[in-house]
Amino acid sequence: METRELYEKYLITSMVPGFEPIEVEEASGTQLVDRGGRSYLDCFSGIAVTNAGHGHPEIVGAAKAQMEKLVHCGTYVYYNPRAGELAMRLAEVTPGRLQKSFFGSSGAEAIEGALRLAKHYTGKTEVIALTQSFHGRTNATLSITGNSGRKQGGGPYLPGVAFAPAPYFYRCPFGSKTEEECGDRAANFLDEVIRYQTSGDVAVFVAEPLLGEGGMITPPANYFPLVKEVLESHDILFLCDEVQSGFGRTGKLFAIEHSGIEPDILAMAKGIANGFPLSAFIARPEIGDAFTVGSHLSTFGGNPVSCAAALANLGVLVDHRLPQNAAERGAQLRAGLEKIQANNPLLGDVRGKGLMIGIELVGDSEKTPAPAAAARVRELCREAGVLVGVGGSFGNVVRLQPPIVIGEDECAQVLDVLSSAFEDVARSV
Ligand SMILES: Cc1ncc(COP(=O)(O)O)c(C=O)c1O
Repeated sequence: METRELYEKYLITSMVPGFEPIEVEEASGTQLVDRGGRSYLDCFSGIAVTNAGHGHPEIVGAAKAQMEKLVHCGTYVYYNPRAGELAMRLAEVTPGRLQKSFFGSSGAEAIEGALRLAKHYTGKTEVIALTQSFHGRTNATLSITGNSGRKQGGGPYLPGVAFAPAPYFYRCPFGSKTEEECGDRAANFLDEVIRYQTSGDVAVFVAEPLLGEGGMITPPANYFPLVKEVLESHDILFLCDEVQSGFGRTGKLFAIEHSGIEPDILAMAKGIANGFPLSAFIARPEIGDAFTVGSHLSTFGGNPVSCAAALANLGVLVDHRLPQNAAERGAQLRAGLEKIQANNPLLGDVRGKGLMIGIELVGDSEKTPAPAAAARVRELCREAGVLVGVGGSFGNVVRLQPPIVIGEDECAQVLDVLSSAFEDVARSV
């Protein structure tokens, strides 16, 4: 049977038929190879996961060596040396005083555990999240996801969750004319949310430093520093969701470093082990110690093979200065896209940091979202051998999130392909 038939008959999926009709057989670096032997330049990285490039030999080698020795023991049953080593390394590379980690297997699991830790530490119960956010697909993480499209058919959701407006300058909820004003208004509105939408029993504010699924919404530079002030004045913790933005993607190891503020808890997954399943949240030690005997556990969390891969991955990212490459290649792509934008009104907004880039497509000067145009651009790119993502709250954002090892010539190729795809699509709308 063809893989597609097997999928139809035996897999429970939410894939749109014909979504990306490629059967991936193997991958290396930035290249995905399909069953027929055709190569594609991957600009999506399996949703921002394979940051160090597919099948990186040092990472695969470390995982293989670990696999020969020990595949599983239970990180919270016996001492697992790789988990200890990785936790120490994460304490070294994450910002501020973050020190103690808990390991799980998925991003949603990390966020859910982090929320629970925040509640244990503060003794408070409520949560504030952002509109247009995405934090996962478990009940608790959907409860704090600010997008009805993602939440359909999953309710009822948890009580005790309030939403503050996303700092989305292109469609600023306050109609601000400058980024600074938008950042200022959005951060100050958080104070109103705390005062008028909660009972004042707020444990934690959770936000992505760059809202990936929302459409690469890139907060103005003043937003997080102002938010931190508001949170401190109410004694509320900041849980930073770096599940998608972490591990070099934005030009720094963690995206929150761009704002210079220190989260109280930071959640990570996707890029942590370059494709091996692993997630973690890391907290200041006094916060981490709020979990006591039996508070929380995960059977597969901290799997030794995934931890060995994560340790090697961090080595590769740091030694090869891959965050810097993300910054440089990101600047190249942004500059090229802005040039295209100057002559093509289909490109409403070009935004992002490093290699976490969104191109928001619009149908007119009223900024009417153009989701069909985004889908067509993705199709044309695929036909030309480049795989891009599509997302955003309106489904109209073309996403560029290639492995951060991508080279200058490859970025030039991406720009060429995108440029003609945008031109073709603009002609037909
Ligand atoms: C910011 C963010 N948080 C959490 C998640 C959930 O991660 P997972 O799919 O590994 O559960 C995602 C997944 O896209 C994400 O982008």
